[in-house]
Amino acid sequence: MGQLAVTGGTPVRTQGYSRWPIWDEREVEAVTATVRSGRWGGYPEPGPRAAAFASAFAEFHGAKHGICMANGTITLIIALRAAGIQLGDEVIVPAYTFAATALAPMEAGAIPVIVDVDPENYCIDPRAVEAAITPRTRAIMPVHLGSQVADMDAIMDIARRHNLVVIEDCAHAHGARWRDVGVGAVGHLGSFSMQSSKLLTSGEGGIVLTNDDHLAQLCHSLIDCGRPKDPEGKEYTFGANYRLGELQAAILGVGFSRLAEQTATREANAAYLDEALSEIDGVRVLRRDPRITRRACYEYIFAIDPQAFAGAAHEQVCEALSAEGIPVWQGYPAMHNYDLFRPGMSRHPIAQLYADRFDFSKLQLPEATRAAESEAVWLNQRVLLGDRAGVDQAVEAIRKVQRHAHELTA
Ligand SMILES: Cc1ncc(COP(=O)(O)O)c(C=O)c1O
Repeated sequence: MGQLAVTGGTPVRTQGYSRWPIWDEREVEAVTATVRSGRWGGYPEPGPRAAAFASAFAEFHGAKHGICMANGTITLIIALRAAGIQLGDEVIVPAYTFAATALAPMEAGAIPVIVDVDPENYCIDPRAVEAAITPRTRAIMPVHLGSQVADMDAIMDIARRHNLVVIEDCAHAHGARWRDVGVGAVGHLGSFSMQSSKLLTSGEGGIVLTNDDHLAQLCHSLIDCGRPKDPEGKEYTFGANYRLGELQAAILGVGFSRLAEQTATREANAAYLDEALSEIDGVRVLRRDPRITRRACYEYIFAIDPQAFAGAAHEQVCEALSAEGIPVWQGYPAMHNYDLFRPGMSRHPIAQLYADRFDFSKLQLPEATRAAESEAVWLNQRVLLGDRAGVDQAVEAIRKVQRHAHELTA
């Protein structure tokens, strides 16, 4: 029996952290009122509750339009289709993200070109983006990950110079701001997921933001079976039904009323955690970019040096921290090793059509690989949503695991 909870010792924290999602009677009342209204579905699109939520959420991010959709994968696909992505086009995506970011271009008929991330913030590396551009490149999809925002100045500059569309994947960044502009409103289109674990949730759901009237019209049309949304009612698209239901929109409306305050709480605790972690040898805090003027923390990522943890794999460190009562995990695999993505990929029509352009074995992605395989630790937002004592215990647990790391490798 050791000192660490994972080897039989006493955990640092036993009472858990905040539950998620947070809800109260207001959600129950909003859903009840929606049921009583008899207006449950998203047709005619948009439903009144979806429209009200979409405009409030868009305004919060400084975007002109918000279009609610069924989930945060469809939002990416629809954004790509609205942007005019065609068969065989290339879309540049980061190697360190959820599978949906790379699947979406394929579903839109395009080829995801997977590039490495910046080790300072684990978001897409603009230098890698620039190096990956070919005459077939049409779009860049940065993902704001790990309580960070990708370098949107550099990405927008590249996009302007090469005439590319930028679609921000903001599934982990509701409410974040880059130079005082909300994420999703910096690029041409922004995509958010409202799946159960996300910072704002209705169980399933998503929204696209844009400042462009025509792109917004196309998004509305593409999710509403292709019905025209232009003022003359002439512009049909080849769409299907990806509308959000009104019961979910009702839940989003209430959850949204808590978002600003929850974001502020997490941001303050994240700043405190930055300071505390930067005092631990062998723990690296990711870049604190002053251009991020509001930080949204879905997963707070920090990096460990395995040597400072007796050579333990970060997976073992994460298991040990979990056993101490701290909700962490080792995060996504690098895209070229992604089980969720890879086995079915060879059966995807786009991968079959362009088999020669889908050889992931040739990819050199050292930074994403290092993050995914040996150094990144993802701490869940629930730790940051509570009080300081809870954050202190997370830090205490990291110190404890480091102190007794030899128990993990013995
Ligand atoms: C980065 C990223 N993009 C897109 C998605 C897809 O969102 P959804 O699960 O709502 O389809 C997710 C979901 O976890 C995600 O993490």
